[in-house]
Amino acid sequence: MKNLFVEQTINKIDETVELYGWVDSKRDHKKIVFIDLRDRTGTVQVVGGEEFKALSEEDVIWLKGLVKKRPEKLVNPKIKTGAVEIEVKEMRVLNKTNPIPLPVNTDGYEIDEEVRLRYRYLDIRRPRMYKNLALRSKFIDLIRQYLFSKEFLEIETPILSETTPEGARDFIVPSRLQPGKFYALPQSPQQYKQLLMVGGVERYFQIARCFRDEDPRADRAYGEFTQLDLEMSFVEREDVMNLIEGMIIDIYEKLKAPIKQKPFPVFTYNEAIKKYGADKFDLRSGEDKKNGTQAFAWVIDFPFFEKTVDGGWTFTHNPFSAPLPEFMDDLLNKKNISSILTSQYDLVCNGYEVGGGSIRNHTPKGLKSVFEIMGLTPDEIDLKFGHMIEALGYGAPPHGGIAPGIDRLLTCITGEKNLREVIPMPMTSGGRTAIMKAPSAVKEEKLKELGIKIR
Ligand code: AMO
Repeated sequence: MKNLFVEQTINKIDETVELYGWVDSKRDHKKIVFIDLRDRTGTVQVVGGEEFKALSEEDVIWLKGLVKKRPEKLVNPKIKTGAVEIEVKEMRVLNKTNPIPLPVNTDGYEIDEEVRLRYRYLDIRRPRMYKNLALRSKFIDLIRQYLFSKEFLEIETPILSETTPEGARDFIVPSRLQPGKFYALPQSPQQYKQLLMVGGVERYFQIARCFRDEDPRADRAYGEFTQLDLEMSFVEREDVMNLIEGMIIDIYEKLKAPIKQKPFPVFTYNEAIKKYGADKFDLRSGEDKKNGTQAFAWVIDFPFFEKTVDGGWTFTHNPFSAPLPEFMDDLLNKKNISSILTSQYDLVCNGYEVGGGSIRNHTPKGLKSVFEIMGLTPDEIDLKFGHMIEALGYGAPPHGGIAPGIDRLLTCITGEKNLREVIPMPMTSGGRTAIMKAPSAVKEEKLKELGIKIR
């Protein structure tokens, strides 16, 4: 087993070490040949001779060598191991590489994205991408640590499921046992997490994959993305906001990412529109942008409903939300609909909407009223949401939650311009999977089994 990472060689001066990694570059000075050996922690210079001649960039090797302190004037301050070099004693090629189709020792922005995604397994060898993956892992670790310390349970919810409305198209999966019927992949675990509250769990979270068929943008992944999905019982709006704000402040301190303003400023929807012309906005100065400062803000007091093109009503954010308490009577009586405000809170960072949540309607009549205002018939309500309305009738506790988008938070904190830079294996903008060739055709007999005919 490998038990020394390249960056640790700096602490092994005058010791003989064994190293495993890739040939990052080679400089051939006839008698002496230098290579930079790379692993996930960085590169170190190795000095050799004849044995290095046949090496190519990206060959995988093992070597044994003596770690030597470099003379003062040869120290390379640009790399972590710049004060040492390795004098090779033995070397073995573990796997000779074919010529690689894209460079992996640049930052990669110059390479066509389709090519990067086709060879994503090579693309993530580049240090920038590895750094993003490592940060993602650390970020999720810190989320878990914080939430476990606040008595949360991490619980998985189904992926093969029924459609849940979050405003996008569903991905559907055909059923073999019931031909002609389909599962939908969840756009979020919204309904399941509320059902966990009915189940008395009280504090739930999940690092949840959500599936949405919507047009991709720089800040919107096609297909799937990840939320920190969270729900709590016996809380009010400010409790959920304070919990998430406390979590973010704690995590960002640990990651040494400065936050512009604490506590986070809170704007009503109307104030935000008046001041910034939008419900997401960037509070950073030019200086803030340079030093990686993260500018968070909350937006609250959104209208619950908006008019549809055909003159009806639809929800602006989330149909499962409760209105602010002072608008509950209007909701139940279906009066003054345009002025009903929702308990929704959106979290904004550096101009992105990085999270959203609300206090929920925890009574059957409240939830039913939302769907009635939206013009659903009793049969439609029963068919689509009967299970929720029934569940709320069995002593559902007051509850609320939120779902910060992990990909968007990481895009902000890394300063990347595109969310795909922080997703390990994102889809292409054309909706193809990285590396593998999905979506792909299915054999006739499989379609038959599913009762499906392609038009
Ligand atoms: P919402 O739909 O606002 O709320 O999603 C919550 C957060 O998820 C992130 N997000 C995305 N990130 C990347 N790519 C996408 N396509 C994408 N879509 C959404 C955003 C967004 O703020 N169930 C509710 C949450 C709740 O009320 O608890 C929900 O899903 O950062």
